[in-house]
Amino acid sequence: MNSFKEQLGINVISTPLNNHNLPLFLNEKISDNVRKFHSSIENYQITPLISLNNLAKKLNIKGIFVKDESYRFNLNAFKSLGGLYAIFKIVCNKLDSDDSQITFKDLQKPQIKEQLKDMVFITATDGNHGKGVAFAASKLGCKSIVFMPKGTVEVRAEAIRQAGASQVIITDLNYDDAVKKAAKMARENNWYLVQDTAWNGYEDIPKFITQGYTTMSNEAYDQLQEYGFEKPTHLFLQAGVGSMAGGVLGYFANKYNSNPPITTIVEPKDVACIYKSAFINDGNAHAVTGNLQTIMAGLNCGAPNTSTWPILRDFASFYAACPDYVAARGMRIMASPIDDDKKIISGESGAVGLGLLSLLMEKEELNEIKEAMNLNSDSVVLIFNTEGNTDPIGYNEIIYDGKNPSLFLEGR
Ligand SMILES: Cc1ncc(COP(=O)(O)O)c(C=O)c1O
Repeated sequence: MNSFKEQLGINVISTPLNNHNLPLFLNEKISDNVRKFHSSIENYQITPLISLNNLAKKLNIKGIFVKDESYRFNLNAFKSLGGLYAIFKIVCNKLDSDDSQITFKDLQKPQIKEQLKDMVFITATDGNHGKGVAFAASKLGCKSIVFMPKGTVEVRAEAIRQAGASQVIITDLNYDDAVKKAAKMARENNWYLVQDTAWNGYEDIPKFITQGYTTMSNEAYDQLQEYGFEKPTHLFLQAGVGSMAGGVLGYFANKYNSNPPITTIVEPKDVACIYKSAFINDGNAHAVTGNLQTIMAGLNCGAPNTSTWPILRDFASFYAACPDYVAARGMRIMASPIDDDKKIISGESGAVGLGLLSLLMEKEELNEIKEAMNLNSDSVVLIFNTEGNTDPIGYNEIIYDGKNPSLFLEGR
């Protein structure tokens, strides 16, 4: 493990690839089936892969591609990919149906809905995952109950209600404790816990969720070919518990025969559980605890997903813990495109990867890390904008009022 000196408030470490545990549950065939499932859902559209040519020129990189998940199912975030697929699998299992022979539409037939009407799905969420669960459950005529952590902005709770939740409760717990509460309620009431993170003894449903996320990497792969690139050289993947990063990286590890792009896992500085686990470097996942604060609500998770941690451990090379200003910078860059680059509306949790990339390419203080990452004019970088504007007040404060400014304003 190599630990770089902290620069600009950013901590980065690198680890060599381990490469021994190819996550077969994310292989191409499975991902193709998952994508087929998603594409059978009404409103399905491939989300855009946006090439930021002028930004790439400015940063002296060959290509920057942003997969814009703010367009996913009109739900403003990628997360529904996981909830939808997991609920589909759970329901097929309950009906004893072969999931390769049945579509989501079939499950919406009145006689099937009648059989499902007593199913209750429960989850805890910072917002985006809850929307996906509520959306999927309501389409099938099932109930959904959603717990949210303290500090959740009302607009995110309302978006979950609008997506079809039966009940949304903002708790006085942090995210990790809200998950424990949802798990307890599920046990006590015989409800189905659809949680986007795994722990010992609770792995099957989170695996379906992670498989669901591969649709966005599967689409991005095809879209990159259309742009004439066989393979991105670099991935920047933001992590809360690491299910999303695990799904994407696991897909590319399979796709490129254990030789994925050079991958950096990016987290909020004070909630960097993947970074901490890589730093301790004993092979195990380690949680961070305490009063966890960040503007990146979707990444504000203290305990890694135990099923995807091995993927991040074995196939990522860099782990970055970033202060909030890095995310705010990424949001502003996407909101103010250069010349004819397309504008991208990115929320706090969607933007931190691009914020970090821009700093690496522009700030001398980070040269050593940039060079270690082999980022240069031959690089083709793939980033996932995992959410749009999910908190309009917070978004305006950052974009219009310049909240969370870069460190570089100081002293001017
Ligand atoms: C917008 C957004 N991006 C990224 C993530 C991170 O996903 P994970 O918790 O699987 O690491 C989340 C999680 O909720 C999110 O809402």
